[in-house]
Amino acid sequence: MTLRSDGFPARTLATALALVWTAAIGVIAASDRTAPPPAGLLAGRVAAAAATHAAAPPPATDPAQASNFVGEETCATCHEAEGKSVRATLHGKAQNVHTPAGKTAGQSCETCHGPGQKHVDSGKKEDIRRFNVLSARDANATCLTCHSKGPHADWQGSMHDARNVSCVSCHSVHAAKSEKFQLKTATATETCATCHKPEAMKTRKFGHMPLREGKMECTSCHSPHGSNNVRMLKVGNTINEACASCHAEKRGPFLWEHAAGRENCASCHDPHGSNNDRMLVAKAPMLCQRCHVSSRHPATIYDGTQLASASSRVVGRACVNCHAQIHGSNHPAGAQFLR
Ligand code: HEC
Ligand code: HEC
Ligand code: HEC
Ligand code: HEC
Ligand code: HEC
Ligand code: HEC
Ligand code: HEC
Ligand code: HEC
Ligand code: HEC
Ligand code: HEC
Repeated sequence: MTLRSDGFPARTLATALALVWTAAIGVIAASDRTAPPPAGLLAGRVAAAAATHAAAPPPATDPAQASNFVGEETCATCHEAEGKSVRATLHGKAQNVHTPAGKTAGQSCETCHGPGQKHVDSGKKEDIRRFNVLSARDANATCLTCHSKGPHADWQGSMHDARNVSCVSCHSVHAAKSEKFQLKTATATETCATCHKPEAMKTRKFGHMPLREGKMECTSCHSPHGSNNVRMLKVGNTINEACASCHAEKRGPFLWEHAAGRENCASCHDPHGSNNDRMLVAKAPMLCQRCHVSSRHPATIYDGTQLASASSRVVGRACVNCHAQIHGSNHPAGAQFLR
């Protein structure tokens, strides 16, 4: 038997293209969103996409296949634990008609695992859709049939999608460990840390935002499901806009802009943390001297050997002892960020 999952990517793509098409011709007809794309150029692309998923089987609700469904009750006679775990989560809430339990009465398990008659007859695991052996693409397609709107609309083409990370790399349907969102670990940050060790380790350094204190998570800044911003940042269109969503006072525009900051907050701060004060990528004065090799101050590179002279340019907050408005100044005489 060909598994139903093969049909999903084509359908999802068709829906996405239909949306683009609808937007392009300016028709705002929400009810039309699941309609197939019009004939012509797009239809050709959809056909091409469909061809790569050859032999797309009919969808689950096709009456011709209905007899291949056995229903949740039957599955649960042999898989009691999975039956219980699904009922304990949002997926098992039949009163919500969009859940697997509510969508097609009784099918529940089979909305994800595919029709199960053959598996029940044979008792073989090869005859049922198993997520631990599915490709990321096919596993994701199963979930995306329902989760394709809102924060999930950007999934396709996101870095995680492109690198074959799957919904079930982070989520567990039957054995979730988190209180919310059915994650495989207790918190979102722990989930991210399973693959992104360097960034997770940095949040443990001296200068950091309050992740390890539990006041923030990786997902405070990043959307694991993709976004419109670079680096899957949750809000804005640039790194600076993402930072300014919380640090509004650094947003500007200022009367006197520090060109460095207009470009990228990350030129001076490591967003994940560093061993310097304020998560700076280097200690001042070295930080400033990455760009300001010579100023009208003594045009030397200040380093450890000059610490003995206790120059105000090296001790304490070094350059920002005087250039205190380092992010930009609104003072008429603030060109040098001194006030
Ligand atoms: C009559 C008992 C029985 C029923 C009913 C049954 N299964 Fe199974 N299922 C089994 C057995 C036995 C295995 C293990 C087969 C093996 O190891 O080869 C299994 C394996 C599986 C697996 C793979 C588990 C793994 O370790 O990878 C999945 C998924 C599964 N069943 C889902 C379902 C679903 C969904 C239904 C309802 C459509 C269902 N089963 C109905 C007996 C049953
Ligand atoms: C929302 C989709 C979804 C629904 C609904 C669902 N499953 Fe699963 N099932 C999965 C995924 C994904 C896995 C892989 C392990 C995990 O995520 O916990 C899985 C794994 C399994 C396994 C293998 C055991 C394991 O831990 O690897 C069995 C057996 C199983 N499901 C049976 C069922 C039964 C029985 C039902 C209905 C009561 C059901 N599933 C409903 C998605 C689903
Ligand atoms: C038949 C449609 C359907 C399918 C298929 C489906 N889901 Fe869901 N899922 C839902 C609905 C509906 C909700 C509840 C949303 C709500 O109440 O806001 C939900 C909720 C969730 C949640 C949030 C749970 C929480 O506690 O907040 C996660 C995570 C999730 N699904 C992941 C998955 C994954 C992973 C898959 C694929 C293995 C999947 N879903 C397949 C319909 C579906
Ligand atoms: C890299 C890990 C990761 C991957 C991959 C991932 N998620 Fe999530 N998901 C999360 C985290 C973390 C949350 C908690 C909400 C948040 O902070 O954004 C979440 C929340 C959710 C929710 C509940 C809240 C909401 O936004 O509706 C659903 C549903 C969901 N994910 C479905 C999916 C589906 C479907 C896929 C695959 C297409 C997927 N996730 C892939 C980590 C992931
Ligand atoms: C299963 C492994 C896995 C998990 C879990 C995971 N990621 Fe990723 N992530 C990847 C891979 C693979 C890439 C591709 C780049 C790379 O190889 O580093 C990536 C890339 C990224 C990028 C860079 C995107 C870009 O455009 O450059 C960000 C940001 C990111 N992940 C955030 C997260 C967050 C936040 C979480 C937790 C919610 C998370 N990841 C969980 C595997 C994972
Ligand atoms: C304060 C916001 C913020 C938080 C919290 C945050 N990040 Fe980031 N992350 C960023 C920014 C901004 C970038 C882009 C940096 C750059 O390109 O210079 C980034 C980049 C990344 C990248 C891509 C790195 C690369 O070099 O390609 C990964 C992966 C990543 N973050 C994972 C994580 C993980 C995992 C966590 C949680 C431990 C996390 N981030 C927490 C803001 C954040
Ligand atoms: C989701 C909100 C949020 C976002 C987005 C965010 N921050 Fe923060 N940031 C915080 C919080 C909360 C603190 C802790 C404030 C405190 O302790 O008073 C903080 C503290 C800081 C600190 C001071 C750290 C210290 O050691 O005292 C710096 C520097 C900083 N953030 C820079 C950035 C940069 C750069 C970005 C963009 C990459 C960014 N932040 C994005 C919430 C955020
Ligand atoms: C030219 C380097 C540089 C750039 C670019 C920069 N910062 Fe800073 N930032 C600093 C320095 C130096 C400090 C420490 C100031 C002090 O000790 O008085 C600091 C301190 C901070 C602090 C904590 C202290 C405070 O003033 O609240 C936050 C938050 C912060 N920066 C956010 C940002 C954001 C957001 C951006 C991007 C819009 C940004 N920074 C760009 C150098 C920079
Ligand atoms: C990423 C590079 C970069 C870093 C790091 C940097 N700056 Fe700048 N800074 C610039 C640029 C570019 C300008 C604009 C120069 C111009 O207009 O000639 C500038 C302008 C200035 C000016 C005004 C110059 C003038 O001619 O009026 C001052 C003062 C200044 N920076 C101080 C600092 C201090 C103090 C630090 C360290 C906390 C620092 N900068 C770190 C790039 C940087
Ligand atoms: C004791 C206070 C003080 C300290 C410490 C200080 N500056 Fe300045 N800086 C000034 C003053 C005052 C001016 C304006 C000078 C003028 O306009 O003649 C200035 C001007 C500048 C300028 C713009 C004019 C030029 O020379 O191009 C830059 C760039 C600059 N400082 C960088 C730095 C850097 C980098 C450090 C740390 C290594 C630093 N400053 C430390 C007081 C200070």
